[in-house]
Amino acid sequence: MTIRISDDAAALACGADAVAEAFAKAGRTAERVSSWGMHWLEPLVEVDGIGYGPVMPDRVGDILAGRADDLRIGAVAEHPFIKSQQRLTFARFGKTRPLSLDDYAATGGWKGLERARALGADDTIAEVLASGLRGRGGAGFPAGIKWRTVADAPGPRKFIVCNADEGDSGTFADRMVMEGDPFMLIEGLAIAGLAVGAGKAYVYIRSEYPHAIAKMEAAAALASPIIAPFEVEIRTGAGAYVCGEETSLLNSLEGKRGEVRAKPPLPAHEGLFGCPTVINNVLTLAAVPFVLAEGAKAYADYGMGRSRGTMPVQLAGNIRHGGLYEIAFGITLGALVNEIGGGTASGRPVRAVQVGGPLGAYVPVSQFDLPFDYEAFAAADGLIGHGGIVVFDDSVDMARQARFAMQFCAVESCGKCTPCRIGAVRGVETIDRLMAGGRTRGAVENLPQIHNAPRRKRAAEDEVALLRDLCETMKFGSLCALGGFTPYPVLSALNHFPEDFVVESAAEG
Ligand code: NAI
Ligand code: SF4
Repeated sequence: MTIRISDDAAALACGADAVAEAFAKAGRTAERVSSWGMHWLEPLVEVDGIGYGPVMPDRVGDILAGRADDLRIGAVAEHPFIKSQQRLTFARFGKTRPLSLDDYAATGGWKGLERARALGADDTIAEVLASGLRGRGGAGFPAGIKWRTVADAPGPRKFIVCNADEGDSGTFADRMVMEGDPFMLIEGLAIAGLAVGAGKAYVYIRSEYPHAIAKMEAAAALASPIIAPFEVEIRTGAGAYVCGEETSLLNSLEGKRGEVRAKPPLPAHEGLFGCPTVINNVLTLAAVPFVLAEGAKAYADYGMGRSRGTMPVQLAGNIRHGGLYEIAFGITLGALVNEIGGGTASGRPVRAVQVGGPLGAYVPVSQFDLPFDYEAFAAADGLIGHGGIVVFDDSVDMARQARFAMQFCAVESCGKCTPCRIGAVRGVETIDRLMAGGRTRGAVENLPQIHNAPRRKRAAEDEVALLRDLCETMKFGSLCALGGFTPYPVLSALNHFPEDFVVESAAEG
């Protein structure tokens, strides 16, 4: 009998260790594997391929005695949530032990690196270019062009930096890769190093991910003879959202304050310690072994338009079936939320979905036919970002969500530029005035008072105009995406849900 239980952070948070212990007490050893990504079923137990979930320790005896039909979901690999995916990056998830070199090699591991070694640097870059792989951190810049730029840039040394400071709300794909298939990321790093002529990679992981840090450290040590002379070093961040921005990440890696640098120079020309540097997100690098092992075409055959390949979509927030869903670009937002995600967990109607983290737009249900595609989202004044989808039901107050976006920016701002540092604070105040002046859908009693400023009796229309003007300044005047993208959630809330920014009594007041 083969029993499998995930040991990733989501499973552990749901009590997977206690369930594994209960099996041990019953004389059975559970293999600790990566997660299938069906988080609503965690702790998920797989017994000879048949899934049970969510399992509490007191049900282990029932499972072993065949009395757990209420928890039984059938063959896990055949579950509609899994079966309908196109898993290229997450192909091993749920099946292999994260730190087993044997499991990794037995499931096609290191094939990509072998092929890259046979192809050489130039053809490896050509392969990544031909695959159409774009940066999965959010910006969608073609990975092959970035690699070519670094390969061609003169410099005494070159570096690969993996951005694992996954800070977007509702995202967890990077964490899952590092905890569930760390050798895949290390293989991607080694291929990148070979392609651009870098001898060393740094993986910058947020401190909130202790399990990922431990797994990556262990994996880097185990894989070092395989990737030698290439080296991988794990570094831990200190919790600032802005350190996910590539230039503040570089500052942080160099031991400096995590403050954004002006671009140019691009990191591809002058990055870590002034040397040409590839900075890629975890998911970008994790897609590379597949591209090299199976060939560019096998990857590029998936997707739509200029968005080639697959996207590991993260379904979160008020959603029935939250988890990781990898699918080719082109699926509609509505299909992801309603068909795959099963609608809201609360059972109430979906009202809005935030796509792309705290800087992403709120999309109303009327736009659910939007395909998951970089260009389609940009055309709708949104972004797919790192693929995080956070669902809200009809009890959400969108004015408060807009306020939260400005407040988030104010708190996380690195302070380097005025539109963001000052603008976000003024944005909070403006929304407070708007909310205090009119009836909003939610309670306003607990809102902080407007600081030290005499309350202006400005007509609410003027406050909205002021907010729009402020968003314009932040969008075009900020140095980085934190200040520059905060207008997306604010303006989308204002444009799609104007009824939440009720204004009559403000005009009277
Ligand atoms: P960007 O568009 O300025 O640059 C994208 C990447 O391409 C950067 O690495 C840049 O150095 C590189 N690049 C640009 N032109 C190049 C050239 N000619 N040659 C070589 N490399 C070149 O975008 P940015 O500011 O780096 O990222 C913004 C994105 O970050 C947003 O779309 C947002 O979705 C995302 N984001 C992601 C978060 C996460 O947790 N994953 C958190 C916050 C934002
Ligand atoms: Fe710093 Fe904000 Fe300016 Fe970015 S936009 S450089 S986070 S102050």
